Amino acid sequence: MAETTPVETIQWRGVKVWVKREDLNHPIVQGNKQHKLKHNLIAAKQQGADTLVTFGGAYSNHLVATAYVAQQAGLKSLGVVRGDELKYCQERWSPTLKHCHQFGMQLEFVNRADYRKKQQSGTVQQLLHGLDSPFIIPEGGSNVAAVHGVAEWMMTIKAQLNQAPSHVICPVGTGGTLAGVVAGCFRNQWACQVIGVAVLKGLQSVKQDINQWLSAYNQDLKIPDWQINQVFHGGGYAKLTPDMVAFGQQFKASHHMPLDKIYNVKSFYALDMLIQQGVVKPHDRPLIIHTGGLQGGIV
Ligand SMILES: Cc1ncc(COP(=O)(O)O)c(C=O)c1O
Repeated sequence: MAETTPVETIQWRGVKVWVKREDLNHPIVQGNKQHKLKHNLIAAKQQGADTLVTFGGAYSNHLVATAYVAQQAGLKSLGVVRGDELKYCQERWSPTLKHCHQFGMQLEFVNRADYRKKQQSGTVQQLLHGLDSPFIIPEGGSNVAAVHGVAEWMMTIKAQLNQAPSHVICPVGTGGTLAGVVAGCFRNQWACQVIGVAVLKGLQSVKQDINQWLSAYNQDLKIPDWQINQVFHGGGYAKLTPDMVAFGQQFKASHHMPLDKIYNVKSFYALDMLIQQGVVKPHDRPLIIHTGGLQGGIV
């Protein structure tokens, strides 16, 4: 879909840091989204599906990316949106939802209890029964197909670096990206530490999901050293500490690099703190993945 994005080297508190600028790959299907959706779309076409169905909140990067790729591929799309308070007031829709609508996505707002149950909820079942051949993509686009796409993308990054990184850092929501990064590091034979930075509190079940996707991806995969850092969620999803806000603004001014306010401001802030704490040291060569998300707002 897009040309290879650059890996920029920046000097950061005495450490040379590689930044993979995947925020530059596409304005809508941006960053990790392109790679997570790639094999889902291929599978949908192979199955002869006519509608992509997925789930997300009112600001979901994944929802709008799915709407866009469906339209481009000549498929219909249905987005199940968390919360029914916006059902009858289109004028209060987020820019994300408006874009989904523009890209032809049918939006169905469900209450939070139904949303938690996803396709097990009666409401969603009813919606699915009304479709000819739906292809369901989980919330955030995270599944084994996403792991394949992200791992392939990681393998392309190898050619852009002159040595293996010491650390690879990315933000974590539903975990498909981190799983793909772990798989890609294995395929690249990088003996590095992979650090996923949780953007919400209490991501316990995500570890299990990641392990399941990784064993489905490749049973023989020797899992590199990976962890989810739970310290820098900033108080919860879409919440930021004043320090994080100040960091994001300063970072943009110093490096001319915008950070989105949900995901990347937290992973970049985490790396800043890990450098200050001496966890990442001056002789290390960390690689941080800018996963995009700019459509949801810049810090
Ligand atoms: C911009 C951005 N970065 C990172 C993530 C986290 O990815 P994952 O849900 O695969 O953990 C998301 C959400 O999917 C995202 O939109």
